Amino acid sequence: MSTDTETQQGNGAATGDQTLTVTDNRTGKTYEVPITDGTVRAMDFRQMKVDEDDFGLMTYDPAFTNTASTRSAITYIDGDKGILEYRGYPIEQLAEKSSYLEVAYLLIFGELPTREQLDWWTNQITVHTFVHENIKSFMQGFRHDAHPMGMLLGSVGALSTFYPGAKDIKDPECRLIQTIRLLAKMPTLAAFSFRHIMGQPYVYPDNDLAYPGNFLSMMYKMTEVRYEPDPRLERALDILFILHADHEQNCSTNAVRAVGSSQVDPYSAVAAGIAALYGPLHGGANQAVLEMLRRVGKKENIADFMQGVKDGNERLMGFGHRVYKNYDPRARIIKAAAEDVFEVTGKNPLLEIATEMEKIALEDDYFVQRKLYPNVDFYSGLIYEALGLPVEMFTVMFAIPRTSGWIAQWLEMVTDKEQKIARPRQIYTGDRTRDYVDMGSRSGGEIPSGA
Ligand code: CMC
Repeated sequence: MSTDTETQQGNGAATGDQTLTVTDNRTGKTYEVPITDGTVRAMDFRQMKVDEDDFGLMTYDPAFTNTASTRSAITYIDGDKGILEYRGYPIEQLAEKSSYLEVAYLLIFGELPTREQLDWWTNQITVHTFVHENIKSFMQGFRHDAHPMGMLLGSVGALSTFYPGAKDIKDPECRLIQTIRLLAKMPTLAAFSFRHIMGQPYVYPDNDLAYPGNFLSMMYKMTEVRYEPDPRLERALDILFILHADHEQNCSTNAVRAVGSSQVDPYSAVAAGIAALYGPLHGGANQAVLEMLRRVGKKENIADFMQGVKDGNERLMGFGHRVYKNYDPRARIIKAAAEDVFEVTGKNPLLEIATEMEKIALEDDYFVQRKLYPNVDFYSGLIYEALGLPVEMFTVMFAIPRTSGWIAQWLEMVTDKEQKIARPRQIYTGDRTRDYVDMGSRSGGEIPSGA
């Protein structure tokens, strides 16, 4: 037992002599907890008790706003400076020089591939693009107007039934083959969901085409013998895929890790990520941008709209970010890619409105003071629309490349000795031990009209 003046030690290993001294004013005891990488361990607070029966102090952080859930070596973000790096490589350099499959390799294996490694990787992904015919059959069972994200969610989850061996997640070879299958089949399932809502026949993969070109072929091929993707569209799509590949511990990645921590197969874990991405607060903002731009409609309406934003009646969608308090580096790259796409498809008149709104916002005190800059969603919707995609497909376009990030994070999690099943604590606020009330003695009786 310690005395009031005793200082007790936490369990984590400190970096040098960095520690935090905490005095528990309920008991007067002082504790010294190690600080490692600018972080204290929540478990070091458990020793702080009012008496021996006390459970110990917990930390409360409902949205993980200040809680690190993992140590990760995949993606680095400095939101104040507008920096995004995959495995240490700046996103600007990757977007300019690499391909999406190269980036996926980098995220998953930690290093840029050599020519030989990239050839092997590309070949592996290419030969796994086909899906079992039964997947096609059950996708055909969705309603004609089913949301493509719902179809993607259901079909990726169903992949686990086609590959029951995938549950052997402790076997590195098994993990590798599922990784390849997921990356290879995601564009196929995404394109099938698009063709479904368009009422068009599904198009099989063309394995002579590159990853983005094959995707365009599965989306747009009609009666021609061979679909020839425009290289400019192919490159723009590849850049979009690179930009969306990973973004460290966001909502969907956290979902993949949390569900994967139960040691379920990776298809089920990635399906959880797709479900999280489906939500409007995460993957759905690019759709909201497009709807906003359509509503503004013409340049003359911009001033009124911006005043509405400043008065708090509107939100400038595609602006602001929880992490970036500077220009989202992805937004700058997307803007340039948009110009290339419009060269092929013709200019989207909404681009002029978007550019003008951005110009006004970047000079206006309201936005400057709040550090509101364009985020990744401000221009991406314009590109998707130019590619002829209905708004329902926008989040699917995000899910295809994010698969490489999800799987890289899943692999890191399953091989991390420190990770256990994700199981948060709670602060219980309900009643305690009540005696069962017989039906005839219960009061109230309103039928619930909501929950
Ligand atoms: N338009 C107008 N005002 C804004 C906006 C905006 N887009 N974003 C934030 N603000 C204001 C907000 O009203 C608040 O002002 P005040 O201090 O006077 O109350 C201040 O800026 C701080 O905003 P916040 O809501 O506390 O910031 P947050 O970190 O909780 O929200 C956000 C971040 C992305 C949800 C928010 O900026 C937003 O709603 N943006 C529009 C939606 C959007 O583009 N989302 C895509 C995010 S990127 C994709 C992804 O990562 O999934």
